[in-house]
Amino acid sequence: MSLLPILRFPDPRLKRVAARVESIDDKLRRLARDMAETMYEAPGIGLAATQVNEHVQLIVIDASETRDQLLTLINPVILEQDGLQVCEEGCLSVPGIYDKVARAERVVVAYLDLEGAERTVDAVGLLAVCLQHEIDHLQGQVFVEHLSQLKQQRIRSKLAKQARITA
Ligand code: NI
Repeated sequence: MSLLPILRFPDPRLKRVAARVESIDDKLRRLARDMAETMYEAPGIGLAATQVNEHVQLIVIDASETRDQLLTLINPVILEQDGLQVCEEGCLSVPGIYDKVARAERVVVAYLDLEGAERTVDAVGLLAVCLQHEIDHLQGQVFVEHLSQLKQQRIRSKLAKQARITA
């Protein structure tokens, strides 16, 4: 297993739309394991393949307090969504930035697991937020793009400053 480098906003590669997974092979299983390790190490509660510059529909999530409820989702699709919640979000690709985003309160997501079995997850609260946030990544969207243009501009200049300091 190995830790993977995470792309940082506004890297243009974060805008790529991920392709559907056609076959679940050893390479994909290794990527899923490495993504989980990278997410736990960061630490974060979700990571999309897009964020590690792999443009396939694969996400890992663990929104549990005990950090032992790993979900690996291949080709996730939102089947149902309802309600509204506003939650403060962060992202491993946007370090140090947190802001409120409005999302559905509940989602039902269909996906394939690592064995290729069809599954669904019916989620509310934090897990529902996390699913929507990670599925956005697969479509080339970072959470800050839900914010106003003014906020996005502030975030870009703050991150550019951080990059200069750490470079
Ligand atoms: Ni994110």
